Amino acid sequence: MTTATKTDSQTIAGNQDSCTQTNQVTTEQQKNSASTKGLLLRPRRLRSSANLRSMVRESHLRLESLINPFFIVEGSNRKIKIDPMPGVFQMSIDQALFEIEKTANKGIKAILLFGIPEEKDSQATAAWQENGVVQNAIREIKKRFPELIVIADTCLCEYMDHGHCGIVDQNKIINDPSVALLARAAQAQAQAGADMVAPSDMMDGTVGAIREALDKAGYTDIPIMAYSAKFSSALYGPFIVAAQSAPQFGDRKTYQMDPANGLEALREIELDIAAGADIVMVKPALSYLDIICQAREMTKLPIAAYNVSGEYAMVKAAAAQGWIDEKRVVLETLTGIVRAGANLIITYHANDVADWLIN
Ligand code: PBG
Ligand code: ZN
Repeated sequence: MTTATKTDSQTIAGNQDSCTQTNQVTTEQQKNSASTKGLLLRPRRLRSSANLRSMVRESHLRLESLINPFFIVEGSNRKIKIDPMPGVFQMSIDQALFEIEKTANKGIKAILLFGIPEEKDSQATAAWQENGVVQNAIREIKKRFPELIVIADTCLCEYMDHGHCGIVDQNKIINDPSVALLARAAQAQAQAGADMVAPSDMMDGTVGAIREALDKAGYTDIPIMAYSAKFSSALYGPFIVAAQSAPQFGDRKTYQMDPANGLEALREIELDIAAGADIVMVKPALSYLDIICQAREMTKLPIAAYNVSGEYAMVKAAAAQGWIDEKRVVLETLTGIVRAGANLIITYHANDVADWLIN
């Protein structure tokens, strides 16, 4: 009876184990306990010193994996606190340049830009016009930091008066006209000098439309990092404060994914790969490590994970109370994201992590 229970629980644990590993534990454990000379197999042998542990460490959080997001506002000399995201600010370009310099000096290779325009309208004009806030920022940043990889988030929500990621008609978010605008926005970002575009809208067909528009305009070498499996998550709450992009009616559930759906996430990833995505993303990161792991099995493309604003806010809030050790928690969770299979991590902790990795 005891044996039966044990076997059952091992089988269940084996099935729930990472997405692919087969369960070899049973035979090893049997051999170990059956030994007459006592325990043969002692995993602790390889944990006995810091040097030994570092030699057998499997996953490494690397500076080169980090992408630091910035929120750019119009005007000058503006640096505005975002309450639920301590340490993150809305900044005008002049101020952002100081912060971007710090990021670059720490050895971080890439930044991700979000724009918050003064004027929002029903066509997201500032998202695709030549002098939109992000397009202006890209030109300034590339002038000062030509080596830095500047990634433009491509979406409409920050630029729409209604806060949705697409065009609204009779209270519905209509797909194809939205995709046409998104392609225009991506083209404007490339024209301003963006090194990569990252569509985060979750309309159908965006990646293909952007690839076509970029290629037609001669930007065949600009990669697309697709927010392929982006879930409709409560963990975007602080970002929506930061980007002032709360939907004025309804929610984003008709385009962002249901958090319950893993297979559908893989399908979204497949579609984006077929449409020409160069990097695929899973977002948020921590509640969706299984998706990252399964995506890793499915594709040879680089995988990005977005350690989103709510994940950041929770850590910051607990750390401010003295309830957790911020450095250890951040390094542990980001290492977990790497272990799951992510090559790139977008995180508001990027500057701190760079300091911790160096020291
Ligand atoms: C908008 C967008 C969001 C985030 C990135 N791009 C919010 C949303 O989709 O509601 C969230 C990022 C974060 O929470 O850090 N397209
Ligand atoms: Zn959006």
